[in-house]
Amino acid sequence: MQGSTTRAIQAIRGMHDILPERVILWQTLEDRARAVLESYGYREIRTPLVEVTDLFKRSIGEVTDIVEKEMYSFADRSGDHLSLRPEGTASCVRAAIEHGLLSTPQRLWYRGPMFRHERPQKGRYRQFHQIGVEVFGLAGPDIDQEVVLLTRRLWESLGLGSLRLEINSLGESDERAAYRRELVSYLEGNPERLDEDSRRRLRTNPLRVLDSKHPDLQAVIAGAPHITDYLGRESRAHFDRFRAGLDAAGVGYAVNPRLVRGLDYYNRTVFEWITDDLGAQGTVCAGGRYDTLVAQLGGRPTPAVGFAMGLERLVSLVEAEAPPPDQGVDAYLIAVGDGPQAQVLVVAETLRNTLPGLRLICHCGGGSFKSQFKKADRSGARYALVLGEDELARGVIGVKPLRGEGEQSEVAPDELGTFFATRA
Ligand code: HAM
Repeated sequence: MQGSTTRAIQAIRGMHDILPERVILWQTLEDRARAVLESYGYREIRTPLVEVTDLFKRSIGEVTDIVEKEMYSFADRSGDHLSLRPEGTASCVRAAIEHGLLSTPQRLWYRGPMFRHERPQKGRYRQFHQIGVEVFGLAGPDIDQEVVLLTRRLWESLGLGSLRLEINSLGESDERAAYRRELVSYLEGNPERLDEDSRRRLRTNPLRVLDSKHPDLQAVIAGAPHITDYLGRESRAHFDRFRAGLDAAGVGYAVNPRLVRGLDYYNRTVFEWITDDLGAQGTVCAGGRYDTLVAQLGGRPTPAVGFAMGLERLVSLVEAEAPPPDQGVDAYLIAVGDGPQAQVLVVAETLRNTLPGLRLICHCGGGSFKSQFKKADRSGARYALVLGEDELARGVIGVKPLRGEGEQSEVAPDELGTFFATRA
């Protein structure tokens, strides 16, 4: 149709492209995280993005926000009920059981996209990314301490200073049941102070009421009984030893008795790293112990602990607090004249062979010296490398600094390495 324009298709709401300028931040974060994880002996595991829906129902819990209203679930062409993974723990447990990894302790980590149909806002997306850790087969508070120390080391390596740690213990299921009864009777004593969502939660998942951000509820939440007063002897000892371990390692923390987490599988230790610099979505890393999940999913009883960090939130923090320098290309190679243009890609290959770390753009598309040089300048490269008829005949390359670093010169290709090194 004349005059009509074709409407461009856009990305799905809450799912974002990461453009090259920002990828540098992601790579910095991912590289540092991997280095820290490897230095503690954690090994990477990769699992599918799609799992049977039941896996998440049976692990995260039927009456959690994630399972009730946030999963991307669908029937595939065979009629199987599948979901895009909303988190990584369930898949990791499934894989560990399926491949018989649980006969010895395992320290695993993973990274990748997760999907939750939440209301998008700053720091909360429908496709977001996590790096997570799951440890299987270790029951003591020492491993809880280790995963916290590992995260502290990562914040240090990223130059992040604004994160604070909150911890709590959710005890064991009988202790939680006793606490739940007390909490319900306390909340039922204040019905007029509850909103509709909390009244519903009171019947389905009362601990989640404590997590409500509703301003009218804050007073009633502040007066609620503390779960830490309902811990049995062993849970209390575990928590005390965890805290003593953090003290010994000089990790500052606050006990937050209202920290309950939004997934049902936790017991005993839970923790969150929080920043006040990102607005409402300030939790950048969260996790805890989940000693009953492996058995619940059909494996032999195996204690477990883990956490996951939200990379979008961490990237925003790194950007605000300690952005890495943009590492542009080193050189942009241009060729003027028919002979050099016919040879330039071969010359570029030779340069890459002799200088393996070199970041080199080879101009493509021809054009005058002036137009090529302009592109070299715009590329952000430190040097323009010029191959003309004369240079080609003499076996040299013209080197012209683009960022005001010294004079133009001529260098033999095999001396370029030394040339760059002496000017680094
Ligand atoms: P989670 O608290 O649901 O725990 O998520 C962990 C982190 O992922 C959050 O603290 C946040 O940084 C990030 N995150 C969660 N949802 C979003 C979202 N919609 N947009 C952006 N970032 C988000 C878990 O996922 C557990 N699997 C953690 C764990 C591992 N526990 C034991 N092992």
